[in-house]
Amino acid sequence: MLSEKMDVELNRQINAEMFSSYLYLSMSGWLESKGLTGFAIWMRAQAKEETFHAEKIYTYVHERGGRVILEAIDKPESEWDSPLHIFREALKHEEMISGMINDLVDLAIKEKDHASNNFLQWFIAEQVEEEANVGNVVDRLALIGDDSAGLFALDMEMAKRTFTEEEA
Ligand code: FEO
Repeated sequence: MLSEKMDVELNRQINAEMFSSYLYLSMSGWLESKGLTGFAIWMRAQAKEETFHAEKIYTYVHERGGRVILEAIDKPESEWDSPLHIFREALKHEEMISGMINDLVDLAIKEKDHASNNFLQWFIAEQVEEEANVGNVVDRLALIGDDSAGLFALDMEMAKRTFTEEEA
């Protein structure tokens, strides 16, 4: 059985993952509107992955006898200056999410909740991957600078991303 505190904090994480999905969908919309279809596809897959994260926690909370209570999702940003700006913001957001996951692990350790600690280790590994993936795009966009041919080539590559739960 989850402690009341862990139940509340996992609910908060569900909301953060849903907000992440909303934010990335908003970013995808901006990219689409600029004709950067490949980047938009990548970000849309990222949005789906975030919904999957929220559902993974949702399932776990119920498995442990907790209760999911959904709250309102904040309105995400809708304007950015450039693809580089978007991916820098996405990286900042992922670093914030990693901090939240770390805090949840700290709580699980404090409460001697080994099951939650074990469950959260999947997210610890996932955050390393997410920060690395987004950080890689930031680095490549910074290198490309104002070179539109470089941007076009990266856009084509970004279009290859898909999301399946098995690969998550
Ligand atoms: Fe679910 Fe991108 O963290």
